[in-house]
Amino acid sequence: MADELKRLVADEAARMIVSGQRVGLGSGSTAGLFVAALGKRIAGGAVADVVGVPTSAATRELAWMHSVPVATLEECPRLDLTVDGADEIDPWLDLIKGQGGALMREKIVAAASERFVVIADESKLVSKLGNRAPVPVEVLPFGWRSTARSIEAIGAEVVLRTAGDDPFVTDQTNWILDCRFQQIDDAWDLACELDAIAGALAHGLFVGMTDAVMVGRNDGVETLTGRGAGGGG
Ligand code: A5P
Repeated sequence: MADELKRLVADEAARMIVSGQRVGLGSGSTAGLFVAALGKRIAGGAVADVVGVPTSAATRELAWMHSVPVATLEECPRLDLTVDGADEIDPWLDLIKGQGGALMREKIVAAASERFVVIADESKLVSKLGNRAPVPVEVLPFGWRSTARSIEAIGAEVVLRTAGDDPFVTDQTNWILDCRFQQIDDAWDLACELDAIAGALAHGLFVGMTDAVMVGRNDGVETLTGRGAGGGG
């Protein structure tokens, strides 16, 4: 069911794209469905001159597969909009992202965009960030245990993300620490604390960045543009 809702919302987001736009292409399964839907619209002639800026190597491959023209952020430093998924969305439309490990590029691309549109099935709505998902923090492998200790000191349980027996490696060849906080009362404060930690290169709290969330529900797509996401647990 979640997959159907992801497809529904991805298709609707692709219908929003108009000719000539420069579009940040998010990462993850929902964003991947958006890339596929956008490719179909381009192939069918519904839109032309669209350029996508992928947020990960995986999304770049997917864009090639679906014949979506791509450019780097260096070539296209200002984007009309970015469409991306999320792991958790709170009532203020603040997010936890990065379960797929692409959080650093996702944040840079979103920040370079006029509009940042999040697409998700309704299971991603939460009343409070951190209720389910850990906050991923991309760290430099150098001194990662010291960085982990600094994050523990602000209240997290920290686990090094692995792929098999080895650390998971990001597109920037860094590592990820999954940080579980007992309770995130103020996402902005926590984001500032994480920003101040040496060795922490990027984190998955996206605070005050979202312009709209398109939510796939059983009865259709709802677009949220302010407080009112409601949400589960
Ligand atoms: C990728 O790094 C993430 O930020 C994804 O956007 C997020 O994990 C949502 O992924 P799904 O669409 O696969 O749930």
